[in-house]
Amino acid sequence: MKRLGINIDHIATIRNARGSLHPDPLVAAKYAMQCGANSITIHLREDRRHIKDLDVIKICSNKKIPVNLELSLNKKILKIALKNKPNYICIVPENRKEITTEGGLNLSKNKAKIKNIIGKFKKKKIRTSLFINPNLNDVRVSKELNADCIELHTGKLSHLVKKKKFFTYELNNIKKCCKYAASLNLEVHAGHGLDYNTTKILSKIKDIKEFNIGHFIIGESILFGLKTIIKKFKKISNK
Ligand code: PXP
Repeated sequence: MKRLGINIDHIATIRNARGSLHPDPLVAAKYAMQCGANSITIHLREDRRHIKDLDVIKICSNKKIPVNLELSLNKKILKIALKNKPNYICIVPENRKEITTEGGLNLSKNKAKIKNIIGKFKKKKIRTSLFINPNLNDVRVSKELNADCIELHTGKLSHLVKKKKFFTYELNNIKKCCKYAASLNLEVHAGHGLDYNTTKILSKIKDIKEFNIGHFIIGESILFGLKTIIKKFKKISNK
């Protein structure tokens, strides 16, 4: 069975739009677990555009929630992550102007830093993962850096599939990386831009053990959760 991690960053995006407390990412995390999620992903961005420090504290301290904390190489974020002890971490690149995480890590530029960070989390028995582009060299370097897992950035594949463009080349890249990573004993995860179609395509790759999906799941939940909530309001307003 492949595991499904739910990224709840955009619950915080909606909450922050009103500067209030609703909807609460902790409530979303608990409910997603009740609904069958295998883990919850949150990304404490340097600009705090969605998840805030207090969310990290609340969600990580709930020991019933297996938390995957995404973090950049920023020292302050690192300190917060080490203090809150999530179950898993995934190191991701961050650029200020990006809308979302638009590519994998530049491993060759940041080798020493990343190796050091991985060491710190492994000492605390926290599973470490590196968000990388699907290329064999980055898989090899991830092993060299002693990561437990890699998460392959599926943004390019997702874009090609959505635009109905030729995607076989990109899919083959992903397949080759999965096979190579498995031969090195690196666990493979996949994430970014995934929807029903792309997840179905990737589900055929046996070496992918975990999907981490955010934006599409939250979007679909808003659309198709509307029925229940409208019914509830109709009932309340007509009592
Ligand atoms: N995995 C990683 C490492 C990410 O950075 C993100 C986006 O924050 C995701 C998965 C989820 O991507 P999406 O929201 O497009 O499903």
